[in-house]
Amino acid sequence: MPDTHILGIESSCDETGAAVVRSGQQILSNVVASQIATHQPYGGVVPELASREHLRAMVPVVRQALAEAGQTYQSVNAIAVTQGPGLAGALLVGISFAKALAFALEKPLIAVNHLEGHIHAVLLEQRQSGDGDLQFPVLALVVSGGHTHLYLARRQENLWTYQNIGHTRDDAAGEAFDKVAKLLGLGYPGGPIIDRLAPYGDPHAVKFQTSQIKHRDRRDHKQSLAEEDGPRFDFSYSGIKTAVLRYVETQNLKPSIESRRQALAGIDKPQVEDIRRLCDRQTLNLVASFQRSMVSDLVAKTLTAAGEYDVQTLFVSGGVAANQELRATFERDAGMQGLPVFFPSRALSTDNAAMIAAAAFPKFLRRDFVAMDFSAEAGMSLR
Ligand code: KG4
Ligand code: ZN
Repeated sequence: MPDTHILGIESSCDETGAAVVRSGQQILSNVVASQIATHQPYGGVVPELASREHLRAMVPVVRQALAEAGQTYQSVNAIAVTQGPGLAGALLVGISFAKALAFALEKPLIAVNHLEGHIHAVLLEQRQSGDGDLQFPVLALVVSGGHTHLYLARRQENLWTYQNIGHTRDDAAGEAFDKVAKLLGLGYPGGPIIDRLAPYGDPHAVKFQTSQIKHRDRRDHKQSLAEEDGPRFDFSYSGIKTAVLRYVETQNLKPSIESRRQALAGIDKPQVEDIRRLCDRQTLNLVASFQRSMVSDLVAKTLTAAGEYDVQTLFVSGGVAANQELRATFERDAGMQGLPVFFPSRALSTDNAAMIAAAAFPKFLRRDFVAMDFSAEAGMSLR
């Protein structure tokens, strides 16, 4: 079969991405324009600003992705775009542009679920490194700023299907990292900062409890009637965020947080070293303890689910999969169970368009194309 070049476009949140991937297995280009600087003053993504930034960045990012790949608008075989889940206004920018391209170029248009993209980021690199055949069933933990979801992934030829066996009941894990970092005046986005600061603190200094969830989520009821019933492994991270807040209040950390916030506001592009210098031992211990609790809970629940469903392979993907302690703990604990675990490289963990182009390839082979009247689905689920 001749090579297939798919142009992927991603604009679900705060990164504008475009990439060209050959036959679902070789990244020819992967361009990401980050909006961190735009949202930093607000300590979180502002949807309206995200849409405007996508609109500004989209055309140059796509042009750069084609140029780096040695491709042209005419030479690619299909256009793939994220349909959801994500911010509606942000998604619409990528979708409108992808539709315009597909229409003008008379190329097929493929809609991709962002979460499926995160799962295919792992597959892409696994294929790229020629790592041999995958053993099924695969359990995928997608853990990002918007999601903490567990999926059983199955493949029949070019058809991938997914069964959700767990999700967060409230905050996503990445959201908890970001909110705790904001609360402690460490900056934005919080995940990478906490990741880099945690090794300097004592992870046993503060004891945090993460929620144990015993009963079913009422929102799952309708869905579970349609799907196979099985045990569920849900997460909950709003409690730990509140516990950090309570610790800050009882230990009277607010004055030092405020002075750190002001000091950081005066530094142009603060580095982790700058932030660390502005943290006392107690704060570093708090950060390390918070991260240890998050990592222990994510790993323990995922490995319990893996045992329960007798899975053969584990994938961990999404922005939080870039976390060093999470990777090391998964490798150690899954290794003890004899379970192979795969992560994307750090660049492919966070949002990017190569994962969208890769997830589109099996759909291209099945000729699973969308009509011109398809639209964004902000709350899209993965099946
Ligand atoms: O997948 P992603 O780029 O966007 C979403 O789909 O949400 O994930 C972004 C999230 C943010 O919450 C960010 O703080 C978190 O991933 N994150 C990390 C790390 N790098 C990014 N969390 C913990 N440790 C990291 N190294
Ligand atoms: Zn994502």
